[in-house]
Amino acid sequence: MRSDNNTQIKLDPQRIPQHVAIIMDGNGRWAKKRLLPRIAGHKQGMDNVRTITRAASALGIKVLTLYAFSTENWKRPKDEVSYIMSLPVTFFNNFVPELIEQNVRVMIMGDLTALPESTRSACARAIADTAHCDGMILNFALNYGGRDELRRAVQQLAQEAEDGKRQARDIKDTDIDAALMTAPLGKLADPDLLIRTSGEERISNFLLWQIAYSELVFTDRLWPDFSADDLRSACADYASRDRRFGAVK
Ligand code: FPP
Repeated sequence: MRSDNNTQIKLDPQRIPQHVAIIMDGNGRWAKKRLLPRIAGHKQGMDNVRTITRAASALGIKVLTLYAFSTENWKRPKDEVSYIMSLPVTFFNNFVPELIEQNVRVMIMGDLTALPESTRSACARAIADTAHCDGMILNFALNYGGRDELRRAVQQLAQEAEDGKRQARDIKDTDIDAALMTAPLGKLADPDLLIRTSGEERISNFLLWQIAYSELVFTDRLWPDFSADDLRSACADYASRDRRFGAVK
């Protein structure tokens, strides 16, 4: 990524990514560096969601998708999982009024049926309370997995074919788009820019279909330290890329 000191970076409003997705990694290492328990890193990570939401909305980003909990994260210690599950409750209790003030609409994708009731109801309330907002969409991926999403889409389309509602050979990319959890995002379903923090360079089962032509930015910054300037930097990096979508210019 570009230089750390970049409040000066000028961003061309025409080249701001419309949909930014972030793999928020490094909370545990942030805590470890400070000799704190891992959950302190998640708490700081949650606070940073507020900072980056505000920054993204101010930049004119239309959709911000945040990977908060994957279908594989259940493998973590029980206490850590319970703590992460409590974060949406705290976050929405504290920040929904601020989100409404910023005209930010909350959406959530993933298998919510497996979440604790308190988490599910906090999510449902935040979605309902911000349903009228038509600014940036803050889209949380919660108990989300790209393979889980694709398997569900395949099952749905196969069932429709079995029921005689469609011909298998006629299935188009757009039918798959419509069967995915990002379908409510319509034309904005595919991220323009995918950022992963903490120096890891992998996708970890995130938006496998949708990132086919996303620009990728990996930064060493740990998620709790990832700042509004870092987001600007990633957007500047994005703006410098030549997106060809497989064609020649
Ligand atoms: C990965 O870091 C982080 C997570 C699995 C949890 C992410 C959750 C948040 C940032 C808070 C979400 C907030 C809301 C409002 C839902 P890690 O624990 O794997 O870090 P490490 O690799 O350094 O151990």
